[in-house]
Amino acid sequence: MTLRLGVNVDHVATLRQARGGHEPEPVAAALLAQSAGAQGITVHLRADRRHIQDRDLRVLKEVLAVPLNVECAATSEAMEAVIPAKPSWVTLVPESREELTTQGGLDVIFLQGMLKPVVRELRSAGIHVSLFVDPVLDQIKMAAKVEAHAVELNTGVYSDLPMDSDASAEVALLREAARLASRLGLKVLAGHGLTLQNVGPVAAIPEIEELNIGHSLIGRAVFVGMERAVDEMLTAMQEARP
Ligand code: PXP
Repeated sequence: MTLRLGVNVDHVATLRQARGGHEPEPVAAALLAQSAGAQGITVHLRADRRHIQDRDLRVLKEVLAVPLNVECAATSEAMEAVIPAKPSWVTLVPESREELTTQGGLDVIFLQGMLKPVVRELRSAGIHVSLFVDPVLDQIKMAAKVEAHAVELNTGVYSDLPMDSDASAEVALLREAARLASRLGLKVLAGHGLTLQNVGPVAAIPEIEELNIGHSLIGRAVFVGMERAVDEMLTAMQEARP
């Protein structure tokens, strides 16, 4: 199975919103990433609209050739904004206003009653649904029960480990979670905090079909350009998965 790269362009929008104008344009960043070989584009529509705006969803959907994945909270406000844009995928994530970035996966077990109708609403709009979850087997089982199409495994704990520490226990959790999800018929994605330096062991997990990478890739693109940043990441992913 080939491993796809989904590029998250939120941080280009963060820079735009810092001045409230038109530059830099996240749609332009998405098109550059696409032409450099990214196989998907991800954006997070947050309740406070701190970076991506509703207009970005509409324009991205119109211009992209690769699938658009919109991350959002499982709220009726988010559904009203996201469903009309008809992205290929919606990834449901936990969200709180105070957080700098998504903190941890969804508690699918606790939220199952609330998630079920949201998953059903998205599915009936023809949108594929992914749930962002920690690599915990019971959460994966519940993701299958609420009829998600996919899980995105949270690599945040793995990514936060110091570079010189032993990451084998965290990688084993991700590997086991990926194996179970695949056995249950779920597509398996992963992301959060991945960098050129730490992507290898996650990219090597054979059941994972796609990695969603934002902050480190956009940070690198500031210095070397989007096309080179995407190319470097694709190369690191391919080297881990010959
Ligand atoms: N996946 C999810 C669900 C996220 O919320 C984020 C951050 O927006 C990412 C992946 C990408 O994480 P990072 O920006 O650290 O690469």
